Amino acid sequence: MGWNVYVTRQIPDAGLEMLRGACARVDVHEGETAPSRDGLLKAVRGRDGLLCLLSDRIDAAVMDAAGPSLKGVANYAVGYDNVDVAVATARGIPVSNTPGVLTETTADLAWALMVASARRIAESDSFVRSGRWQGWGPKQMLGVDIHGKTLGIVGAGRIGQALGKRAVGFSMKVLYCDVGRCAEMEKACGARRVPLEELLRESDFVSLHVPLTAETQHLIGKRQFELMKETAVLVNTSRGPVVDEAALVEALRSGRIFGAGLDVYEEEPKLKPGLAELENVVLVPHIGSGSVETRQKMAEMAAANLLAMLKGQRPENCVNPEVFDKRT
Ligand code: GLV
Ligand code: GLV
Repeated sequence: MGWNVYVTRQIPDAGLEMLRGACARVDVHEGETAPSRDGLLKAVRGRDGLLCLLSDRIDAAVMDAAGPSLKGVANYAVGYDNVDVAVATARGIPVSNTPGVLTETTADLAWALMVASARRIAESDSFVRSGRWQGWGPKQMLGVDIHGKTLGIVGAGRIGQALGKRAVGFSMKVLYCDVGRCAEMEKACGARRVPLEELLRESDFVSLHVPLTAETQHLIGKRQFELMKETAVLVNTSRGPVVDEAALVEALRSGRIFGAGLDVYEEEPKLKPGLAELENVVLVPHIGSGSVETRQKMAEMAAANLLAMLKGQRPENCVNPEVFDKRT
């Protein structure tokens, strides 16, 4: 008890209330943007717990700055590439994430980006608003069909599977690739596992659902765009660096692929030069889990995880449970 925790941003109240109810001190970074690196290093000093966002880099320096009191790091995201888990594990510091609660919400957004890109929704919206629309036209804003097409899902985790289920109602054929076979995926939508190259060649829509690791960095680059159909749409709601964004700009600009829908970028919030000028890409600001309901559940989940770690218990969603094995 008497815990002192730092929360790197205003998260939904439900989570903050849980922390305030159990901790002696809860400081929350104010403002709409992430704490600066220096600000973060100062703010973590002497804390028992840290609740952080995907936009905070939690590495050895941050853990050093927190000092030996640090009992856990609760990441307010399912992806945790922003946390140096190897370093945390070596120091016996547990790290948690928020899996499951955002699966369907993120799959909804991936679906929305597919539809928006295929049917040129964002471009059409600007066209109408700008006053350039002169009336109905037989060749106006023509998109590509979604129903009956082939969807390629890269990564058969929870979100990839949830996307596959959505494809059933649109009579789509589903291909997937992953390091192993996924029986749930195959059962949910009749998906067939194929190598990545085959998936890229055959799919009309390619949606990425892999975590960011050394293996998945730039998984999709120039060579992969060359394999894709000219009518294909790429959707990325995973992590920006999974795609070589400069190569994507080139593929979109040259018409190598039809379009793309992006929720994530290589260097958020920066965009690679040229991306924002292209009309055949739909850009949204990393809102995959961004529904009122889901962000609240994530806040409660991250807070519950942090409280468990403060008590020295294994949190429900621990990404390095071996920390607890070592203790016994
Ligand atoms: C969001 O990108 C998350 O990983 O939860
Ligand atoms: C997210 O929940 C995933 O593992 O796909």
